[in-house]
Amino acid sequence: MRDGDSTAAVLAALAWQIEAGADEAIDIVPADRFAVAAEAPVPVGPVVATPSNGAIPSRPPRDDTERDDAPPQAARPRLADAGLVPMRTASPALADSPAHSLARAARSLDELREALMAFDGCPLKDTATNLVFADGNPESRVMIVGEAPGADEDRAGKPFVGVSGQLLDRMLAQIGLDRTSVYITNIIFWRPPGNRQPTTGEVAACLPFVERHIELANPDVLLLTGGASAKTLLARNEGIMRLRGRWFLYESTGMSRPISALPTFHPAFLLRQPAQKREAWRDLLALSEKLGELARP
Ligand code: URA
Repeated sequence: MRDGDSTAAVLAALAWQIEAGADEAIDIVPADRFAVAAEAPVPVGPVVATPSNGAIPSRPPRDDTERDDAPPQAARPRLADAGLVPMRTASPALADSPAHSLARAARSLDELREALMAFDGCPLKDTATNLVFADGNPESRVMIVGEAPGADEDRAGKPFVGVSGQLLDRMLAQIGLDRTSVYITNIIFWRPPGNRQPTTGEVAACLPFVERHIELANPDVLLLTGGASAKTLLARNEGIMRLRGRWFLYESTGMSRPISALPTFHPAFLLRQPAQKREAWRDLLALSEKLGELARP
């Protein structure tokens, strides 16, 4: 077969897969499902109960750089989509929880931090060293929401201070931002032991506080780093490969106006997949452009 023929064959196979709906890469190395089927079945681990009485298979611990490949954890029911700019609102199921009441009662970021210090509804608090609330400038127009603290963040009590945080700082510097001009938090406020993926229950326990956090900080733009943050806050089921680079409108019950939200890759993912930095760069440029647009009268 000539080179041109094999390229055409590969492109045709790719086009066929896209048409069949297989249009998202979920891993770098293709999995041979026929080979897997021939092997002995892998036992599924014990299940972890969630507040909604749903159950998810337990997951082995992961290191800090594994967060973006994981399957959806906290995907909530998809809410209203408004054409190309889906709206997201707080889940009514959470409206009566003690976490929700505690979070709603906070009238300032300091009160919200205090409320989290007093909150005992997330078991991660028992194993963590510190609450990891936020870093940067709370007056900033840009709020960055990551996934969960790792070991460095747990020690320091600040988000994104480890290697992925250092990459985040370098990325922000490319568009003239730093920790004096962004505000940074996570969807989880305490380190999951061994850096494992947060469970659906842990995400749900923290979510009312994250929603209130966004309401109180009231940024112009949200940058959602990684699949867990994007899927949780936008209530979407798609993976980060599909979500990144698209603008969404984020809204919760206590907000006076929706906020533009941009999902992008998690810096930890970029450390493992440097080729994806090109896409992340596009996202940063889009963020910078949006800030310019929103600043215009
Ligand atoms: N990864 C995150 O998502 N958040 C942190 O604070 C650190 C690493």
